[in-house]
Amino acid sequence: MMKQTLQSFELDDELTISEISPGFPIITINNSHASARISLYGGQLLDFKPHNQEEPLLWLSEKGLSEKALYSKNKAIRGGIPICWPWFGLLNEDSVLPAHGYARISLWGVHSTQSLSDGSTQVVLKISGTSTGMQQPDLQHYLDCNLSLTITVSNTLSLELQTTNRGLSPIVITEALHSYFKVSDIHKICIEGLEQVNYLDKVNDNMSCIQEGAVKFSGETDRVFVNTQADIHLIDYGFNRKITLSKNNSNSTVVWNPWQEKSQAMGDMSNEAWLKMVCIESANVHSNKIVINPEQSHCLTSVIRVEEIT
Ligand code: BG6
Repeated sequence: MMKQTLQSFELDDELTISEISPGFPIITINNSHASARISLYGGQLLDFKPHNQEEPLLWLSEKGLSEKALYSKNKAIRGGIPICWPWFGLLNEDSVLPAHGYARISLWGVHSTQSLSDGSTQVVLKISGTSTGMQQPDLQHYLDCNLSLTITVSNTLSLELQTTNRGLSPIVITEALHSYFKVSDIHKICIEGLEQVNYLDKVNDNMSCIQEGAVKFSGETDRVFVNTQADIHLIDYGFNRKITLSKNNSNSTVVWNPWQEKSQAMGDMSNEAWLKMVCIESANVHSNKIVINPEQSHCLTSVIRVEEIT
């Protein structure tokens, strides 16, 4: 069968495909509701901005665009919505394998693009276990997986990450849609929806804690909330907006901000970046890991919408 060119997936002015640097194709969407960009490297949404918003919803590191640190092979792009799969964090404590798995450092293919009747644009990206860089014998079971990511861009944003097990044995995965949100100032936000939820505090030896009240930020924060399916509200008093993150088939939520020292030590974040971002991730991690039986699929979904604070 003839391989389709990337250009054949373009939809007039609504969806175009170009290379941001050699080997890094980017899909640019501009429809009647919103604009967005998606990198095929990582299958990663980079930006999303409904036309009625002044500020983009997602944070993307501006550092690296000029220094070429942002787009380099075997390194994840910092910002947007990276895909953590088939594991979240480290595979195990002393693992030397890539943190957050292989999906975010692999080149995905375009399966389809479509303009929907309500004016939204849908893109389906795919990758198979064998086309990620996984070669290690103990990762063989992941090679039989197919991954599909459906992104729908409207005045809301929807992401569906479907894992299908084509192998003969059950597989176990952990995963996250690692959304980086742009905020006015980390001191002027709070996150609602996690009150009284149990979390592992990664900045405190994975201590088990219970969230009292809304999440507010006054230092490095790295919390894995387990057994929660609730909608999350990111209230930003500086931008006067509330972003709601709804999820499906997700039993964990991760909240992360590296704070000043760690952010400054990271080569792909500018010194002040930690003030302007927060990660809220729809996930299945730790005790919420997912088992997928042969010929079965599992679909993790995130829907993001924004409204003014009234
Ligand atoms: C978060 C983790 O999801 O991702 C943090 O909870 C981690 O522990 C962060 O530091 C960023 O990870 P990375 O691999 O993109 O630097």
